[in-house]
Amino acid sequence: MIPTPHITAKIGDFADTVLMPGDPLRSKFIADNYLDKAVLVNNVRGIQGYTGFFEGKRISVMASGMGMPSIGIYAYELFNFYDVKNVIRVGSCGATHNSVKVRDLVIGDKAYTTSSFAENFGLEKDFIGEASPYLLNRANKVCESLNIIPKIGNVFSSDVFYGEAAKIPYFIKYNIIAVEMEGAALYMNAYKANKNALLICTASDSLVDKNAPNLTAEEREKSFASMFEVALRTAD
Ligand code: HPA
Repeated sequence: MIPTPHITAKIGDFADTVLMPGDPLRSKFIADNYLDKAVLVNNVRGIQGYTGFFEGKRISVMASGMGMPSIGIYAYELFNFYDVKNVIRVGSCGATHNSVKVRDLVIGDKAYTTSSFAENFGLEKDFIGEASPYLLNRANKVCESLNIIPKIGNVFSSDVFYGEAAKIPYFIKYNIIAVEMEGAALYMNAYKANKNALLICTASDSLVDKNAPNLTAEEREKSFASMFEVALRTAD
């Protein structure tokens, strides 16, 4: 089913690994600043997708949009119709545990959710998606080589951005270190398609530390840059 209702790329236009930021402009930023010979392969709804080369390695980047229904569409089509093998989400998250500081790199080992996504997708209601051990292992090695200490733990994928603080008792109960809005749907898609996925985030704010700094645009850019580098080097 190519092209799909949401992606006009042709078969073979995507590399084996696709990096997925939420924001289409961030997809363009990664293509412009990190990829050689980047070619636009999708722009339906402004969901910019590019394929190019990072240090000689063919790699793609395409936006996911915000929330689980949105990433659920794009991850499904990439895995099942374009035969993409690995999807690495590169996003922002809110820290929900004091061990995670603003600017920290967070890797979601498991993605919890209370969303109905799993049930609607034909999985057990309380299914918990997990990172691909293969990609997690690669990311760990990359972090070590770049002297980055990632915070690896359970992440919560929320259906709401406003009102998440009500979930703090749940975060404590399930050892959730950060909250974002897409990871669980990505992991469920990878599970069903028998493909690999990894959730890498940068903590841009904190729900638990009232003294957490508000990042300047420059600081935000810098911490995102190291996340992009980890993700680009994790791709095989
Ligand atoms: N919730 C969801 N996504 C986020 C947050 C948050 O608090 N912070 C950054 N991305």
